[in-house]
Amino acid sequence: MDRFIIEGGSPLRGTTRVRGSKNASLPLLAAALLTEGPVSLRGVPDLADTRNMRRLLEAIGCELTAEAGSVVVRAGAGASPHAPYEIVRTMRASICVLGPLLARFGRARVALPGGCAIGPRPVDLHLKGLEALGAAITLDSGDVVAEAPRGRLRGATVFLGGAMGSTVLGTANVMCAATLAEGVTVIESAACEPEIVDLARLLSSMGARVSGAGSPRITVEGVDLLEGADHTVIPDRIEAGTLMAAAAATRGDVTLENCPIDTMLAFTVKLREIGVTLDIKDDSDPLRSTVRVCLDERPGPTEITTQPHPGFPTDLQAQTMALLTLADGHSVITEKIFPERFLHVAELGRMGAKIFRQGGSAVVSGEQRLIGAPVMASDLRASAGLVIAGLAAEGTTIVNRVYHIDRGYQRLEETLVSLNARIQRTEDSS
Ligand code: EPZ
Repeated sequence: MDRFIIEGGSPLRGTTRVRGSKNASLPLLAAALLTEGPVSLRGVPDLADTRNMRRLLEAIGCELTAEAGSVVVRAGAGASPHAPYEIVRTMRASICVLGPLLARFGRARVALPGGCAIGPRPVDLHLKGLEALGAAITLDSGDVVAEAPRGRLRGATVFLGGAMGSTVLGTANVMCAATLAEGVTVIESAACEPEIVDLARLLSSMGARVSGAGSPRITVEGVDLLEGADHTVIPDRIEAGTLMAAAAATRGDVTLENCPIDTMLAFTVKLREIGVTLDIKDDSDPLRSTVRVCLDERPGPTEITTQPHPGFPTDLQAQTMALLTLADGHSVITEKIFPERFLHVAELGRMGAKIFRQGGSAVVSGEQRLIGAPVMASDLRASAGLVIAGLAAEGTTIVNRVYHIDRGYQRLEETLVSLNARIQRTEDSS
């Protein structure tokens, strides 16, 4: 298993380009199942998760080709609507093929995803939404088996909110399924994430009739057939936020190109509050701006509570905590989406951070400095937080099990080296 060796203390400097969004790419790839026409996606990042999704589509029977920087998916009529456990268990987001398979083929069998390091990952809302569209759903040996009566779903009104608010992939599943249903579907308490808006853009370009994406109420008027389309994936707001936190933690000066600044307000408001300077240098396209990020002193403390979009993104919680371990004061972080999403706390503590967990909250008592140490990556975003802490720490940090990072960042170490970081990837022979 690979690991990163980081020599802390180098301020990040320079310019880098934000890549396409992982969390947009996965449902976009799944949406290609809705048509036998070619769906061409430009800007899909080359990550473990996107490679797994491509493997899954091939296992289902799709033809995938790379053409001029795009991934092209052709889901022919011969595809088999079955997502096998051996692939689904490697990536729980595989569940987002359920809605498209059911809508296109009238039936689907998808292995139930397990939980993961950040907590149980239920899909009850996904199933509730699809049942509202008329699907008959049973569980069989760990698989979800879904059937549309007479081969076609029926439009309906469904409330998709749960105890923790909206569901991103649940909204994607139901929205996709509704595009080929008979009649109109209204999704109330839909997820408002930018990745849902991007998915709705692709569906509309395929001929779907979707309105309200980005708001809590999405309306879909079912059609009989969808066509192939070309689409460019929105930039990754979580990669952008990760790089901004790393720039601030190292008291650096970094320019991000292709930055979806317009989708990041809850995060950038907090960065400015703690003293980070953000200059938007080109906002001709607020989803693909050029933004300069710098901080030349200790950050100040703040209070953060993660919420569904447009609230503070849970996927930037660990990275922001790493930054706040260096603040000149106490910060409070409350995790409302995944209350167990604190596996980074103990590892940051190994580096001298003073963090006190209390249920779904953590009090971060800022320190003047962190000390490099060997630490263990546990999940994608916790690992990114540990890399940020290592970049800011004095001395050497070894981040073990960086396969977690490779799920959501394309060669993160190469991006950081291009920004003056001292980081290298080595094979962990132990
Ligand atoms: C998406 O996961 C993202 N993944 C996650 O990013 C992100 O953390 C999450 O949304 C929240 O923003 C992708 O888009 C591929 P949810 P998703 O359904 O859709 C509960 C990363 O680091 N819930 O919005 O699976 C759930 O337990 C990953 O890139 C139910 O109770 O998350 C959670 O508490 C990690 N029942 C909350 O809702 C359900 O049926 C939000 O989950 C579904 C979800």
